[in-house]
Amino acid sequence: MTSTSILCPHCQQFLDRDPARRNSLACPDGHRFDAAKQGYFNFLTGKGTNFTEDSAGMVAARDAFQARHHYRPLATAITLAATEATATPYRILDAGAGTGYYLGVLIDALAGNDTEALALDISRYAMRRAAKVRRTTAVVWDVWRRLPTADASRDVVLNCFAPHNADEFRRVLAPGGVCLVVTALPEHLEQVRSPLGMLGIGQDKESQLVSRFADTGLELTGSRELRYPMQLDTEDLFNLAFMGPAGHHLDPDRLRHTVRELGPQQVTAAFGIYSFA
Ligand SMILES: C[S@@+](CC[C@H](N)C(=O)[O-])C[C@H]1O[C@@H](n2cnc3c(N)ncnc32)[C@H](O)[C@@H]1O
Ligand SMILES: [Zn+2]
Repeated sequence: MTSTSILCPHCQQFLDRDPARRNSLACPDGHRFDAAKQGYFNFLTGKGTNFTEDSAGMVAARDAFQARHHYRPLATAITLAATEATATPYRILDAGAGTGYYLGVLIDALAGNDTEALALDISRYAMRRAAKVRRTTAVVWDVWRRLPTADASRDVVLNCFAPHNADEFRRVLAPGGVCLVVTALPEHLEQVRSPLGMLGIGQDKESQLVSRFADTGLELTGSRELRYPMQLDTEDLFNLAFMGPAGHHLDPDRLRHTVRELGPQQVTAAFGIYSFA
C-alpha cells in the first residue's frame, strides 16, 4: 500500500493506494473509492449530494477557450506568485479546479520536483479533464465541506474564480505555504457581458476578501492586478459566455446567433491575484 495525503471523507483517516489496483483508494476502516474510467474519484456519494454541476457543454467550452491561451498571462502570474511566495510549492490543492488549466501550468513549471496535487471540484465533467493533469488526483467534492486533506498538508492552496472556504484553506495550509485567491475585477469582460447575457457574475471586493480571510487568521501578504486586452473571435465569444455561470441558462443556438451578429471583439481581461499566509 502507498500512503497518499488524501483523507477519507467518512472517517478522516489517510487513504492508501493499492499498487496492484492503481485506480482504487482505501482507508483502514475499509471505505473504498474506485476511480471512474476517466480517472477521477467521486467522494460525493450517497443522499443529499445532488448539485447543479457545470454541464459537459460548459466544461467543454472552458477547455476550448483555455486551449487558445487567452488566459495564459494569468496562468503565468499564478505560477510566479506561487513560486515567489514559498520555497517548496510542491504539495498543491486546487479548490474549485475546473479543468485544471492553471494547476497544469504550475505543475509544468515545477517539473522535476516532487510535486503532488489534489484537484477538487463539484463538476464530474471538470474532474474528467483535471484527472489528465500530471501528478494530480482529481476528486469530485464540495469545497464548502471539510476538505479531504490533512491539517497543514498543502504548500499551495489555489482558488481561482471558485468558492472561498477560508476556514478550511487555513486548516490545510502548511507553515510557509501560500493560499492564492484569484478573482475577476469589475472591468473583466466589460465590453461583452451585457450583449452575451453574462450579467450577474458576482464581484469579490478585495476588502471583503481580506476581512473574510483575516477572520481565520490568514493575512494578505501580496496582491496584484493583471489587465490586458484579448482579441476574441466569435468562437471564443461563444465559449466565454457558455463556460461561465450563464452557461446554465443560455440557449446555445441563440448564443451562436448573438456572437455572429456581434462579430470579433477586443475584450478586457482583468484579474486580482491575492496571496494569503
Ligand atoms: C468559474 S469556474 C473556475 C474553474 C477553474 N478554477 C478555472 O479558473 O478555470 C468555477 C468552478 O467552481 C466549481 N464549483 C462551484 N461551486 C463549487 C463547490 N461548492 N465545490 C467545489 N467546486 C465548486 C465549478 O464547478 C467550476 O468548475
Ligand atoms: Zn474511511
